[in-house]
Amino acid sequence: MRRLLRKRPALGMALLSGVSTAVGIVIVLAIDWFPVQASTAAPQIDTLWDVLMIASVPVFVLVMAVALYSVFAFRAEPGDLSDGEPIHGNTRLEVIWVTIPFIMVSALAVYGWVVLEDIEAKQTDPLIVNVNGQQFAWRFDYPEEGKVKSTQLVLPKDRDVEFRVKTDDVLHDFWVPQFRLKTDAVPGLTTKVLLKPSRIGEYDVVCAELCGLGHSTMRAAVRVVTPEDFDAWIAKEQKSETDGGAAAAGGDEAAAGKQLFTETGCNACHTLADAESSSAIGPGLDELSANAEKFGKQDKQSPEEYVKASIEDPGAFLVPNFNDGVMPADYAKQLSPEELDTLVKYLLSVSGEEKP
Ligand code: CUA
Repeated sequence: MRRLLRKRPALGMALLSGVSTAVGIVIVLAIDWFPVQASTAAPQIDTLWDVLMIASVPVFVLVMAVALYSVFAFRAEPGDLSDGEPIHGNTRLEVIWVTIPFIMVSALAVYGWVVLEDIEAKQTDPLIVNVNGQQFAWRFDYPEEGKVKSTQLVLPKDRDVEFRVKTDDVLHDFWVPQFRLKTDAVPGLTTKVLLKPSRIGEYDVVCAELCGLGHSTMRAAVRVVTPEDFDAWIAKEQKSETDGGAAAAGGDEAAAGKQLFTETGCNACHTLADAESSSAIGPGLDELSANAEKFGKQDKQSPEEYVKASIEDPGAFLVPNFNDGVMPADYAKQLSPEELDTLVKYLLSVSGEEKP
């Protein structure tokens, strides 16, 4: 058998490659690689992916077939210590193995470029959404819809959306797998993603860039809704924003504090029963009053001073078992002095409460 394989290596390799390629292509096309398609770009991107797979399988298979075939057919006999036959260049072969990959890669690059052009050309009257990444939460605001701010991403179906993605600290990556498109959030830059949601449903924004201890928890809900539901949501958010502002100015400080707590993303890292958050990246805030009493005393701080100092300079005092550098040092920059006071009062007023 080996002798036969050695005699006709090209035929053997071609046979092995052909059969393996057919099987490989059937397998890669049968695999359900992606979640549901929820944007108009998704079908094009999935087709692009399939074409890439179909182009990659033969290359992979051919290389593996030649390698495995040679290992089997040309293995040295036991005891054979002689040198192999000397091999010189083979111009025809070299031209072939340079030209074919060159044509394939160029064609795929052009195809990818055409698809991207097509996706980005579709925009008409886009909804602008500012996306802000921060260790370890996403915030969204709608600058043209009365500056609505939210920790949830709500989008109307069938309307173009332009995401303007920024970060407050390190690299993050804005990704909704069901929309397929993603982009890095790069310090100092605003990156853009253009897409049109095409399917009503609830999805997740995922951070796709390792950004620190809480990376895996850096998710936010996405809801694609009807245009009517979107308008209703915007109206409701605008109202609660005004109410929140009014509350901070006089009335319900607790509601304003709670809103600040979620809006600034504290809930991404801290457990607080009143705000229904549960994350153990930072110290639990249900123990905050007790901690403020205990640790504040060491520096002769009142509980209010202790909490305020802990937000403004997270590294100044570390609760035992928690590390420095996890909470961004400039976290308090997002808060005005009044907002910071509101947040401090809120935290001290609700900490220690049992979950209602
Ligand atoms: Cu942000 Cu990973």
